[in-house]
Amino acid sequence: MHTSAPQNIHPIGVFDSGIGGLTVAQGIARALPNEQIIYFGDTAHMPYGEKSAEAIQGYSVKICQFLLQQQCKIIVIACNTASSVAVELLQEHVAGKVAVINVIDPVVEAVKQSGIGRVGVLATQRTTKSGVYPHKIALTSPGVQVMAKAAASLASIIEEGMFNSAHTMKAIMDYYLSDPCLEKIEGLILGCTHYPIIKDHINNYYNGKVHIFDATETVAQTVKKQLQNRQLLYPGERAAHHHFYVSDYTRSFEQATQIFFGTRVHLNHYPIWEMIEQNTPL
Ligand code: DGL
Repeated sequence: MHTSAPQNIHPIGVFDSGIGGLTVAQGIARALPNEQIIYFGDTAHMPYGEKSAEAIQGYSVKICQFLLQQQCKIIVIACNTASSVAVELLQEHVAGKVAVINVIDPVVEAVKQSGIGRVGVLATQRTTKSGVYPHKIALTSPGVQVMAKAAASLASIIEEGMFNSAHTMKAIMDYYLSDPCLEKIEGLILGCTHYPIIKDHINNYYNGKVHIFDATETVAQTVKKQLQNRQLLYPGERAAHHHFYVSDYTRSFEQATQIFFGTRVHLNHYPIWEMIEQNTPL
């Protein structure tokens, strides 16, 4: 846990099931260029989208402990699946010491602001099953119709880099987005951290006529506001050095960082689960 109270010089902690959350980290790095980011991708357990809620909660708490140990002044759950099942638990765990931001609430707020009446959600199986988007939107924007569509393999397809072929992507978009439940939507929530990568293909499918809710920018602004409110923004300018950790390392993960972070970054292998099994204190 934190050894001292969070300070403005401390880093921002960001985690995801893998490397898709780098889209969120990139958004934060752009909006807050003087902030240092510590990123943890649980590549040993990805995809979270098909795991049980209990398993994801257990992973999320351990990763949160790691980020607190790195003295992170705020924790960002850069994963819709973990956000859908673990945010309350993590908030309880940190007991108000640091803010815990998730990728769902800022988008739910954006839906409310938009005034849109019928919105679709494209997400993993677990996020869709959790019903988190329909539930939260019903609370904040009663009357808005929410149509949720699980796209079981879409995150893996993106990770494999298939989005470079316009022809393939058209077929994939037809497959997922032609579901009758998504008919007549005015907006579509990208309910998975991988999907901003294929935003243009989604826009093309809808000929730009459907508003796309992308958490990347919205979440970065939420992080900024939280740090401002707590007077924890880095005071000045610096060349921030980010650190990226993964629970399982492969070269292909490192290559894929280019897709999700915009530049290729070095991934440090941090075998968090082996350490826990050996009872090594975090
Ligand atoms: N990062 C996850 C999400 O946003 C997608 C990948 C996974 O299933 O682990 O839901």
